[in-house]
Amino acid sequence: MVEPVERQPDAAASSNAYANVAESAALAMRGDQLVKRFGAVTALDGVSFTLGKGEILGILGDNGAGKSTLVKILTGFHQQTSGTLYVNGQEMLLRSVDHARALGIECVYQDLALANSLSIYHNMFLNREIVRRGPFRLLDHARMRELAAQCLDDIGVHVPSVDLPVERLSGGQRQAIAVARAVHSDAKILLLDEPLAAMGAREAALIIDLVLRLKEKGGLSIIMIMHNYAQTLDIADRIMLMQRGRVTFEQHSAQTSVPELMDIVRREYRAMRSNGAH
Ligand SMILES: Nc1ncnc2c1ncn2[C@@H]1O[C@H](COP(=O)(O)OP(=O)(O)OP(=O)(O)O)[C@@H](O)[C@H]1O
Ligand SMILES: [Mg+2]
Repeated sequence: MVEPVERQPDAAASSNAYANVAESAALAMRGDQLVKRFGAVTALDGVSFTLGKGEILGILGDNGAGKSTLVKILTGFHQQTSGTLYVNGQEMLLRSVDHARALGIECVYQDLALANSLSIYHNMFLNREIVRRGPFRLLDHARMRELAAQCLDDIGVHVPSVDLPVERLSGGQRQAIAVARAVHSDAKILLLDEPLAAMGAREAALIIDLVLRLKEKGGLSIIMIMHNYAQTLDIADRIMLMQRGRVTFEQHSAQTSVPELMDIVRREYRAMRSNGAH
């Protein structure tokens, strides 16, 4: 059984709940003391985390806490200033998004990148279009339509037609397409940056349902950045709280609660104010 770990912000060698089995095959990913600086700004100030295989890790935290920066390092978009990342137990410096993708790491970004004027199926095969055999390398639209429809069906996303331009979909449906695209690419590790941002209850339910079904299918480890505590506790196996570039708390969802999380955040604010920090 893993003991709860509440971290002191200045615990230099702070590790994580799985430290003893750090190189264990049970981990899809592990970060050790990741630091990221943008000039004078320290976005990540020694972040350590683990992601178990088949696990959903929910990351909570204030605006500017460093959540997106962490995800962008895990997806190869940024490189850490220092610290070590392990993928499937192997030390790995992710050189680019393509490098991360080749390792089965896919991301749905906060400012998500769908081409709104293109159809659903075009979007699902953006940058990995299927071409017909033969000298002209013509796009195989029929095959892409068929596979897109099948993939959406597999994961329970219902759209009237895969020929619809994405701009005709609701925000929730668009997110679902972005998630479907990431999953379709055979992702082993899926990173979702605020998939429920600006969504109504029904749309959020669609994405939550989709993520839970993906988990049931197995073989996928997921990191979700979230804002809503209750939703996070519902969907994630484990939660991690980030504040000012550090991990200040982590716990199994079943062993914490919204009041406990609120309390930790309040305590942090009080400590910050009395230290005169900004
Ligand atoms: N490319 C960049 N260049 C300079 N500073 C950056 C860059 N990206 C992020 N930062 C800074 O790093 C800090 C962390 O930003 P980040 O986007 O990771 O926060 P976040 O936790 O995702 O916040 P939010 O909840 O608002 O999305 C912020 O102070 C931000 O201004
Ligand atoms: Mg962010």
